[in-house]
Amino acid sequence: MNHHDKPLTLLGDLTAADFLANYWQQKPLLIRGAMPDFISPIEADELAGLACEPGVEARLVEEEGPDGPWQVSHGPFDEATFERLPENNWSLLVQAVDHYVPSVAALMDEFDFLPRWRLDDVMISYAPPGGNVGAHIDQYDVFLLQASGHRRWQLGGKLTDEAPIIQGIDLRILKEFTVEPDSDWVLDPGDMLYLPPGWAHHGVSQSDDCMTISIGFRAPSADEAITSYADYLGEQLPASQRYSDAGMAPAQQAGELDDAAVERMRQLIISTLDNPTQVAQWFGRVMTQPKYVDQVVPLETPMTEAELVAQLQDGEPLYHMPGARFAWRSDASGTTLFVDGDGHACSVELAKRLADTTPLYAEDLELDGAATLITQLVNTGSLGFMSDEGDDDEGY
Ligand code: SIN
Ligand code: CO
Repeated sequence: MNHHDKPLTLLGDLTAADFLANYWQQKPLLIRGAMPDFISPIEADELAGLACEPGVEARLVEEEGPDGPWQVSHGPFDEATFERLPENNWSLLVQAVDHYVPSVAALMDEFDFLPRWRLDDVMISYAPPGGNVGAHIDQYDVFLLQASGHRRWQLGGKLTDEAPIIQGIDLRILKEFTVEPDSDWVLDPGDMLYLPPGWAHHGVSQSDDCMTISIGFRAPSADEAITSYADYLGEQLPASQRYSDAGMAPAQQAGELDDAAVERMRQLIISTLDNPTQVAQWFGRVMTQPKYVDQVVPLETPMTEAELVAQLQDGEPLYHMPGARFAWRSDASGTTLFVDGDGHACSVELAKRLADTTPLYAEDLELDGAATLITQLVNTGSLGFMSDEGDDDEGY
């Protein structure tokens, strides 16, 4: 029996396989007690503190803001901001909290039945009673885990991109929101609501300590994928590979763009794009692109391989840096370890070991090519010794 055949408390006793077959990307699932006896991995004060740090993406949503309804302001905030806020009806939303708080990052391990590269980030909101961001749809799958206090969730069914939204505000709030039958719940700490993309939802804080954790996923749109893949491929194509029409028939009408010409162009595009090896190389790179590029900070003074080996042999563990993204793939052309938007050819054993986010030790150097690749990843800022972190002004 493989471990995905086991009922998971996290999924309301469904197996991962059941959940993926019947709910994931298809329909919402309310899970009471998904994380029994759940204690929030972060306090409201700590969240507010993060929202005051430069470089942290934070938003404040005020239903009745000083400058008008549904006012959105962007961090970093200061103490004065929090002091002027009313008792009720506002929300603070902090993005990528997993990058800054290890116990929040650890939550992601619970979702290991999904590929890690599908995860985007963990957003956390705090709201006093009445706080909400309006009824809306998101384009991504999300698990909404109640961390503390209580939030009432109402669902309005699956809507299209064209569903009308309120004009003239900075939020995408639905003009019409009709609660579906049996889709109105108050979530307690440890309860979780899964939502597929495109489901209308509305969550209102019911307590003065409401914190909700959104575990969000990443899926490039066709628009982004085509543009980005074409850019990646384009850099590698020789200038000599171009539209060609050797052996064509004489033009009937010199001004006409005929079917044969369109078909030649279509074939050039299709045969160039339809390259599974290149798709894989590009896909691994985009899915490991850091959420915030400036958070992966290269070492100011690069380490030599000998220094790296010595430090590991001293017994110092080497960590995957917060926000760094790893994935690997093996196919007929070999194995690639994808890290933060780059691809590195290496052995499958080394790729698997490095994509596993447990700390690295001296014994891991025994893997073929390990010292060289690990040194490179330390220098680019994807791996790091904890002792180095404090030296860096941009680190948190
Ligand atoms: C919130 O936590 O306030 C909103 C989360 C969401 O609706 O996606
Ligand atoms: Co939402």
